[in-house]
Amino acid sequence: MLPAFGALLATALLAVRGVHGLIRFPCSQLVTERFDPLVTPGQVSPHLHQIVGGNAFNLSMDPSLDLPNLASCTTCRFVEDKSNYWTAVMYFKHRNGSYIRVPQMANHNTGPGLQDGGMTVYYFQPVGGKLTAFPPGFRMRVGNPNLRTNSLDPQDIASRAVTLRCFEGLSYGVGAPGYDPADTFSFPPGPCSGGIRSNIYFPQCWDGKNLDSPDHESHVSHALGAFFGAECPETHPVHTPLLFMEIVWDTRPFNAPDMWPEDGSQPFIFSMGDPTGFGQHADYVFGWEGDSLQRAVDVCTGGDGIPTNCPELTVQDMDSMNACKQPAYVPEVVEGQYIERLPGCNPEQSGPDPATLIPVAECTEAPWSTAAPLPTVAPAVVTPPWTVCHSGPGSEPLVPNCDSIPPKTTSVGKAVPTPAVTGVAQA
Ligand SMILES: *[C@@H]1O[C@H](CO)[C@@H](O)[C@H](O)[C@H]1NC(C)=O
Ligand SMILES: *[C@@H]1O[C@H](CO)[C@@H](O)[C@H](O)[C@H]1NC(C)=O
Repeated sequence: MLPAFGALLATALLAVRGVHGLIRFPCSQLVTERFDPLVTPGQVSPHLHQIVGGNAFNLSMDPSLDLPNLASCTTCRFVEDKSNYWTAVMYFKHRNGSYIRVPQMANHNTGPGLQDGGMTVYYFQPVGGKLTAFPPGFRMRVGNPNLRTNSLDPQDIASRAVTLRCFEGLSYGVGAPGYDPADTFSFPPGPCSGGIRSNIYFPQCWDGKNLDSPDHESHVSHALGAFFGAECPETHPVHTPLLFMEIVWDTRPFNAPDMWPEDGSQPFIFSMGDPTGFGQHADYVFGWEGDSLQRAVDVCTGGDGIPTNCPELTVQDMDSMNACKQPAYVPEVVEGQYIERLPGCNPEQSGPDPATLIPVAECTEAPWSTAAPLPTVAPAVVTPPWTVCHSGPGSEPLVPNCDSIPPKTTSVGKAVPTPAVTGVAQA
């Protein structure tokens, strides 16, 4: 058992009993559109999601679909991972009432290369001993899009499963996600000079029988009392890897005091009309090839989270990840410009009462288009203020070397050098 841990979580987690490894990797954006094959299969969702992973993602995704064979590419670092992961997107609300999507940027130590949009995915091995990878067809959801107040018991780890971290400068914080002094259940109340990071833990205990459940949650459970080193309850006895994701929202362009509301409130809002942040949620559809996730979880227990140190899996370079895109089927603006209303049917609901979602049948806004799909507008590649890889000489613990994943070779057989991406502090 190695105490070393991904460079993201730092010291507080180093001491967590039972942590013996993690698989950590970036995934860029596949498409952003109002699809949610779990909650609203076959129908356009009332709110916008960003989706990463394999390009077999679809409006409906029956558990019998063979995703690794249907997908021809993935936006994730490991080519074996044709899963899909999705969350709501964040908007900035201008003082004049218009909204613009908050860009996303590469997390610490996710290079070489810079992803366009997307997230960082983790499969932790949170306890020693045998973990069981998810079976084909498995899916789940965490978080409640209708939540508008922190009604959960703070002692219940479900309350800490979905949080937001205010980044100050280049630092990624000091505590485990959900336990850092900078972590909040709602949007941070003040500007964050290094952006905001979403921290989302999925349940790690499975009933061993159902690939899904009507609420997409009952077939799984959090472990008893902790995310790391804890047992599963008898009702959900099968211990799976601990799926965790982080999204770094580049709020830096929106930090000027004169851009914030005059009443002292904060200006960010999730795509389901949630200006509180309590409604953050995420979805997962398992799609790893064969037994690749099981093999990786069994073998890659080194605990540094560097993809090339997991030889069970195959890495691809960032250009290949960023080149995997799906066209959009819902004809509406989702990137790069101010819009008058949030896409779909999402009145702003600030709680504290739970939000009421507009039923899909009543949302006639920009429905599924039978016309040819629109090419996806790739999100801008943002240079984060921190380093994503180590450009040498030598190596640095927990940080991927910038030359560790060679870029695609050209037709003359020569590798195109990857420029070292080093931290450029923002003013
Ligand atoms: C999505 O589903 C439609 C309808 O079943 C099908 O025609 C299409 O090929 C699917 N797309 C992908 C990428 O699997
Ligand atoms: C609000 O300001 C933005 C940025 O200048 C602009 O693009 C948008 O059109 C404005 N919206 C309204 C309703 O004036």
